[in-house]
Amino acid sequence: MLLLAIESSCDETAAAVLRDDVVLSNVISSQLQHAEYGGVIPELASRLHQQQVVRVVQQALADAQVPESELEAIAYTNGPGLLGALLVGASFAKAYAWGLGIPTVPVNHMEAHVLANFLMPTKPQFPMLCLTVSGGHTQLVLVRSLDSLEIIGETIDDAAGEAFDKAAKLLGLPYPGGPQIDKLASTGNPKAFKFPTPSVEGLNFSFSGIKTSLLYLVRDGMAQNSSFIETHKADVCASYQGKIVDILLEKLERAADLHGVQDLAIAGGVSANRELRSRFLALCERRGWRAVVPDFAYCTDNAAMIGVVGWIKAQAGLFGDLEEVPFTRA
Ligand code: KG4
Ligand code: ZN
Repeated sequence: MLLLAIESSCDETAAAVLRDDVVLSNVISSQLQHAEYGGVIPELASRLHQQQVVRVVQQALADAQVPESELEAIAYTNGPGLLGALLVGASFAKAYAWGLGIPTVPVNHMEAHVLANFLMPTKPQFPMLCLTVSGGHTQLVLVRSLDSLEIIGETIDDAAGEAFDKAAKLLGLPYPGGPQIDKLASTGNPKAFKFPTPSVEGLNFSFSGIKTSLLYLVRDGMAQNSSFIETHKADVCASYQGKIVDILLEKLERAADLHGVQDLAIAGGVSANRELRSRFLALCERRGWRAVVPDFAYCTDNAAMIGVVGWIKAQAGLFGDLEEVPFTRA
């Protein structure tokens, strides 16, 4: 099946063309304009999607060397995400599909992050446990089959990506903060500063405590020495990032033991983090578990992951209709 996929849930306008689960093209236009405001401005995101969507889709078709007349379905992100942003992608996808006389496939963005792992040459086996860590979500997802995804743990406050972004803002780093902290942390000492371990029941997560602890560390440090941030930036990033990874992997390991799962994966924007990737692989090796890590291009928001879910749903005949309305929350 030849399928076009469109992603527009947040600040990436993306389109991909897939033949079944093989990616023929994957175009991403990141809205760098939000950096100026230190975070995503929903209204601006909608306008930029509107401006970019036609160009991005044309580019995806051109890269795949596929004429639009050969497309058999159009998959698009139906939520969760920013409503205005989702409406642009959804409306475009429906109108285009209607014009071409082909069906649409509405796709859940969080499911797509998890199933992005099935774009990799070595497919995970079932049951699979996936740690999904993005800007808005932190979830442990037990995948029993391609259409059975159960959330068995999640954050009770901030998402892991939010913990990175808020820390970066506090340290005066540009948005999005995750990649900046990742880079600085590689030259810092992860033992330089201590952050508290949150006490959260079961398989849930909490990141608000370490964020507050960072706020106090920076406030007290700056009171004593006004160049505290400049002098200790790399050490602060390394220690803070190390703690986030500790928290994530501790719960992941516990969940895998509890459910007797041997196939593990990570997903979402934060899965691009180099320390998380390397320590995840090391954990799986130590425990004798099979591990899948998505390519960098499939970690942060992209349309290839929307396409793979679109393909799976199309196989099952789960097409959308033109009255489908996007949703904002999972
Ligand atoms: O999945 P994603 O692209 O968008 C959402 O669905 O939220 O995730 C974006 C998040 C942001 O919080 C960003 O700071 C974080 O992923 N991120 C990273 C890295 N790259 C992106 N966090 C840590 N290290 C990275 N290398
Ligand atoms: Zn995402």
